[in-house]
Amino acid sequence: SGCNSESRGALVVLEGLDRSGKTSQSSRLLTYLEGLGHSVELWRFPDRSTNVGQMISSYLSNKSQLDDHTIHLLFSANRWEKRSLMETKLKTGTTLIVDRYSYSGVAFSSAKGLGDEWCKAPEIGLLAPDLVFYLDIQPEKAAERGGYGDEKYERLEFQRKVSQCYQVLHDASWKIVDACQPIEDIEKQLQELVLECVMACQKGKPLANLWS
Ligand code: TYD
Repeated sequence: SGCNSESRGALVVLEGLDRSGKTSQSSRLLTYLEGLGHSVELWRFPDRSTNVGQMISSYLSNKSQLDDHTIHLLFSANRWEKRSLMETKLKTGTTLIVDRYSYSGVAFSSAKGLGDEWCKAPEIGLLAPDLVFYLDIQPEKAAERGGYGDEKYERLEFQRKVSQCYQVLHDASWKIVDACQPIEDIEKQLQELVLECVMACQKGKPLANLWS
């Protein structure tokens, strides 16, 4: 089709506090899009399967200690090591549903007191999502759901700060979804919004870089 832009997959990101329901909604979205015959994969960050991911995992489970800047850069490196595969997948028509991305990187590190701009800098040049869902829940409500493990960030006091940092970070393009609704209602809302996005990318919406 000559000078028409290329059809591609969509980069869809789910963000939110711990216990906001990102993970179950991500897998429901995957099932939904697969059911419609789309090529789609579920990804998550941190990707604990890589060497960098193992360092992150060890830090999160309090088995190792790292300076706040150092762990921030490892989270970012963990996304950079997947960037080219991500681009290949998208360009060959696979939609990626990604559970946490650069916004988690910035929200969690700035909650510790690192500057916003410093936190964003290493994310510049990663692929920009076509759609960001924010599963909105009050930190107290999320804590009530139980299931906080023993990981480093799973404490109410810290989650309150992360929540504030997400408020500063989000822009008008984010789809804010009330995470306290019944699971099926949230699922329906995500389904409607994701289809539009997948269609736009099929029609050749250009791929962009962060932060744009
Ligand atoms: P995740 O694996 O999603 O948590 P869970 O084990 O509950 O499924 O993420 C682990 C933690 O890492 C989570 O508290 C958010 C935090 N995080 C960052 O601090 N920076 C980042 O860049 C990312 C992707 C996550």
